[in-house]
Amino acid sequence: MSDAKLFAPARAGAIELKNRIVMAPLTRNRARPEDDAPIELHAEYYGQRAGAGLIITEASQISPQGKGYAWTPGIHSDAQVEGWKKVIDAVHAKDGKIVIQLWHVGRISHPVLQPGGADPVAPSAIAANSKTFDGTQFVDTPSPRALERHEIPGIVEDYRKAAENAKEAGFDGIEVHAANGYLIDQFLRDGSNKRSDQYGGSIENRTRFLKEVMDAVVAVWGADRVGVRLSPFSNANDIADSNPQETFSHAIRLLNGYGLAYLHLVEGQTGGPRDIPEGGDLAALYALFEGAKMGNNGYDRDLAINAVHSEAIDLVAFGRPFISNPDLVDRLASASPLNALDPETLYGGGEKGYTDYPTLAESSVAA
Ligand SMILES: Cc1cc2nc3c(=O)[nH]c(=O)nc-3n(C[C@H](O)[C@H](O)[C@H](O)COP(=O)(O)O)c2cc1C
Repeated sequence: MSDAKLFAPARAGAIELKNRIVMAPLTRNRARPEDDAPIELHAEYYGQRAGAGLIITEASQISPQGKGYAWTPGIHSDAQVEGWKKVIDAVHAKDGKIVIQLWHVGRISHPVLQPGGADPVAPSAIAANSKTFDGTQFVDTPSPRALERHEIPGIVEDYRKAAENAKEAGFDGIEVHAANGYLIDQFLRDGSNKRSDQYGGSIENRTRFLKEVMDAVVAVWGADRVGVRLSPFSNANDIADSNPQETFSHAIRLLNGYGLAYLHLVEGQTGGPRDIPEGGDLAALYALFEGAKMGNNGYDRDLAINAVHSEAIDLVAFGRPFISNPDLVDRLASASPLNALDPETLYGGGEKGYTDYPTLAESSVAA
């Protein structure tokens, strides 16, 4: 089968990509501890990976309350905007494109990570059977406080402000993180959303928060520079829904109305099996969406070539392979072997396991 299409230019809304290979969002916990700002090291890391048609940054909190892990970057302060400018410059200097993933973790946090030691917030006061890293150790995520209805517009405003900051920094667009069991996903699913007001109960109500966030960020950017990530069949962070096919069909129909840059789906369990549970139909979800479709999870070269060739999806996001292969696109193009991933250096630390993975050319010099 011809591999040409994977390496040919493409569009995602108003964003022009030099190929169809996307760097998936990857949390690496290396922001400056004092202010959660990206540093020079981030610029080097993302710049090394600018061969991607599009880079989606690691999830970045829209507010101090949106933070759920130690040393993740934010996009809510001037220092953070300044840090991101250096990252963007490094990617643009190599003719790459980069969007930032906007994140509010909801209940996947801990009081030690929250302003004033407050309880994390969520649609309902239901704890996730999950863990987070507080800077010293892994800790259970405790029971969150259910958001008061009057607090919700403030969080939507935080998304809007973060979108504005992203624009000021010079990103090519934004991705709304509505996947993997974080705040928006917690609203979408009936396992974590037991609200009795207009944000809970019916599917219309459970998608209301997503809609309000989309309205806010699209007003800042225009829809054709906004993407959304969903993980309909993933149980990441203990998320559950009685009928994901129905919930996400509704969500995608709603998203369709905007004319977004792309829809990004995690296919199966995030970072795990690509299997879709009984009653689930991934192709049917993709078929509902009229814009560019981005797929992720467990892709390798053959799967990616097939997926774009068959037009199942338009863009393929690679996560772990981009961690250990800064020159992933070149390696895929030449069907070269990939560097192995070091699981010990994923979260936190410095350049080891971050900016020191060799390119193919560097490996052959060393050999
Ligand atoms: C170290 C690490 C960090 C991740 N951080 C994020 C993140 O910030 N946002 C997100 O949506 N997904 C995140 N994910 C999930 C990846 O984007 C991706 O869905 C997953 O790794 C499966 O794709 P892959 O098989 O190509 O690695 C992370 C995964 C890993 C391994």
